[in-house]
Amino acid sequence: MLSVSQIMLDGEVSLSGVDRLPIIGWKIDSDRRDVVQHSWHLQCSLTADFSSLVFDSGEVTSAQSNNIELGDAALLSSTRYHLRVRITDNHGERSEWSPLAGFVTGMLGALWQAEFISAETPADSEKSHATLLRKTFGLKQHKAIAAAWVHATALGIYQLFLNGERVGNDELTPGWTSYRHHLLYQTYDVTALLNQGENVIGAELGAGWFKGDMGFSRHRNYYGEQTALLCQLVIQYDDGSRQVVGSDRSWRGGDSAREFAEIYDGERFDARKVQAGWSQTDFNDASWRAVSVVNWDKNTLVAQGAGTVRQMERLAAKVLIITPQGDKVLDFGQNMSGWVEFRVRGNAGDKVVLRHFETLDANGNVYLDNLRTARQTTEYVLTGEGEETWHPRFSWQGFRYVKVEEFPGGLDLNQFTAIVIHSDMASTGHFACSNPDLNQLHHNILWGLKSNFVDVPTDCPQRDERLGWTGDAQIFCRTASYLMQTQTFFAKWLVDLKADQTPEGGVPHVIPDILTGHCDQDKFLAEGGTHSATGWADAAVVNPWTMYLMYGDTRVLENQYASMKGWVDFMQAHADNDIWRYKLQFGDWVALDAQEGSYFGATPEDLICTAWYAHSTQLLAKTAKVLERTDDHLYYDALHARIVERFHQRFFTADGDMTARTQTAHILALCFNLVPDVWRERTANRLVELLHEHGGHLVTGFLGTPYFCHALSQNQHPKEAWALLLKDDFPSWLYQVKAGATTIWEHWDGIKPDGSMWSPDMNSFNHYAYGAVGEWLYRTVAGIEADETAPGFKHVVISPLPGGGLSWMDARYQSIYGDIAVNWQAHKGRVVLTFRVPANTTATVKLPAVREIITSGSLNFAHVNGEWAAHCGSGEYRVEYLPDESVDLTYTD
Ligand code: BGC
Repeated sequence: MLSVSQIMLDGEVSLSGVDRLPIIGWKIDSDRRDVVQHSWHLQCSLTADFSSLVFDSGEVTSAQSNNIELGDAALLSSTRYHLRVRITDNHGERSEWSPLAGFVTGMLGALWQAEFISAETPADSEKSHATLLRKTFGLKQHKAIAAAWVHATALGIYQLFLNGERVGNDELTPGWTSYRHHLLYQTYDVTALLNQGENVIGAELGAGWFKGDMGFSRHRNYYGEQTALLCQLVIQYDDGSRQVVGSDRSWRGGDSAREFAEIYDGERFDARKVQAGWSQTDFNDASWRAVSVVNWDKNTLVAQGAGTVRQMERLAAKVLIITPQGDKVLDFGQNMSGWVEFRVRGNAGDKVVLRHFETLDANGNVYLDNLRTARQTTEYVLTGEGEETWHPRFSWQGFRYVKVEEFPGGLDLNQFTAIVIHSDMASTGHFACSNPDLNQLHHNILWGLKSNFVDVPTDCPQRDERLGWTGDAQIFCRTASYLMQTQTFFAKWLVDLKADQTPEGGVPHVIPDILTGHCDQDKFLAEGGTHSATGWADAAVVNPWTMYLMYGDTRVLENQYASMKGWVDFMQAHADNDIWRYKLQFGDWVALDAQEGSYFGATPEDLICTAWYAHSTQLLAKTAKVLERTDDHLYYDALHARIVERFHQRFFTADGDMTARTQTAHILALCFNLVPDVWRERTANRLVELLHEHGGHLVTGFLGTPYFCHALSQNQHPKEAWALLLKDDFPSWLYQVKAGATTIWEHWDGIKPDGSMWSPDMNSFNHYAYGAVGEWLYRTVAGIEADETAPGFKHVVISPLPGGGLSWMDARYQSIYGDIAVNWQAHKGRVVLTFRVPANTTATVKLPAVREIITSGSLNFAHVNGEWAAHCGSGEYRVEYLPDESVDLTYTD
């Protein structure tokens, strides 16, 4: 049976708040093989029964089922639209109408009547005390409400209430953007929260990223000195009339019981000071103060339809530990970003004080040093009335452990729950295999993502940093996009990257950029500057290209094109005869071939810089081709060829050796195609030698590590790639796993084999960067690979790599067309491969190391370039083959 299982809007299941028509796509289900969509018919209506159509495509003969732009329909503000689609296929089947999808529009055009209002004054710039705002209003008499929407944002962090009820379930809104250019607002349906007669709308505001204490140099007021709320409630009556209640001077301001809230340091909440009923009607606000209007350019406002931070999971406390030093510590068994919620009874004025941290030291005592100046402490003062439940809301903590510094009464584990928060993204990846350590590594990579995709892609969630380091986000982008639907998340961040670029196209080290102008005391950045480091700044090019590969989204390429080009032009402007280098470079950051105590790996800067210069230029040339910018395509293609030529001349000797004897030099040359063909095999062999010089261990840093396994497996060394992945002594991915890690560490030697720690000045246990090996699990071990000529997995290349002594592997990737599944079992020297190709897509199966195909599963395999390959349409397939000796099928289990 043919059906459309889901419609997606900008890659999301639903959108609440859009200011332009979303891009439409849908997933097709069928029990047949070789299903290709023949035609589609889409309707958009103001009502769920489709009696009020605003758009009807009619029957469109086309196989396109994703990334469909519907043109410029005129949208109404604050309005819900319903969508449905039906299709026919190449077998002559017709589907039913799909399940409905919908989106809600934001405030379109210049309809903002509301003002930004504040209960603070500029004199409060140093204050971290949350404030309250409220307004009483009446509804029009004797009129039935059809719908009510509120559109809101803040300078700071806000939470909205209507008649005492929390509005929506987003956290830390409006998130962090380059506020002066781009401020997101949220849209909520509040129809059910309104009362006949009197109503009260209220908001709590905290300092957040806007005016809070941020950055490792601990400045504040990056964007302004006062928090402020912008809020417009639109009530639509059945008779077609509207009533608008906006934030303005008539609101009243007060103080919250949240006496302190800062992202790094935590919160202090004195429950005795809660003003009961403050966002309800029968509250007397006579003692509250007048509010002031804050000037802010409303052109910065952009609707946010999805991807807000939310409470995603709840984890029970696992163990109560009494440390050798006598501290009471709760262990949640998982490093994460979030909050601890507790239930407590006690007397008025009693306190709960919790200190959050990541790891115990070698003696089993509380280890706080790696948090640097971040206090990560929450403090709650009890009212003394019955059982009290509380968790923070205007900060978050990065932790696995919690030191209970004060807690009235006895401690019971059941009183504590951890609430995991991160940006809401659909989960798209599944990986499991017969090696439990590898499964734990996959788990740790995923939790690195969950912990660090808190509105912006952060380096780490615990110390006084939590910044959108571009390098980290760039190297992890592909892995992240196998694990979760990252389209909305990265599209948002890339807007800020573009906004914060220097006029010359330079890209700041962190986005949003709060380093520029605030690093006078920093030992590296004061001199070296705050933008344009290779491998970091290249996020400008790599991330949009990755979105294109994973989601087939040309809009992101269009939107970012000027930014991508700006960055490549910046490199060109600062290159000397096509060899690029610029001021401060992080290079192969925290590589183990660095000098003792240094962060900077041994691979020469000019080599790394020029390698990335070539890589980004090539991606830009490809982008120009996709966007049909022919002149640019030809120009950057030629530039790329010149850089490659210069790379050969400069970084290879006449005998074909690389001038730098480091693993990372060889890895980048191989993976970025910077090796002359005649020397490819020699370069790959040399990489293997360099690996063996370190006993089969990597000594690579941020830039070499993500590509190491690829460099080996793509160059006739699959066994070595597997061996590298599965190493479990220091330094290796599985060394961390064996040491009990539940997320990925910043340093290979975060905790050394003797139990001592790397210097506390930079030793996070929750950095996703080295988790970038995750893409090797999906792209190579499972072999689910995108095809850049048919992006978004419209055509998928399935080319798994059994090995590593595993007896089975099972992986799925939920593409925009549906589930791509690959499973292999290795048994008695044979491999049984089963895979699923979603409807309306095609696949090429490539089996590189085959001695004999035993069962072809009705596929027509041909032997091409040393591998067996077959093309197929959608459906499920089973192939059985005998691998050759390059595949290691000695089982470990
Ligand atoms: C961050 C890194 C980042 C680096 C740049 C560190 O402080 O934690 O992940 O990329 O600085 O050098």
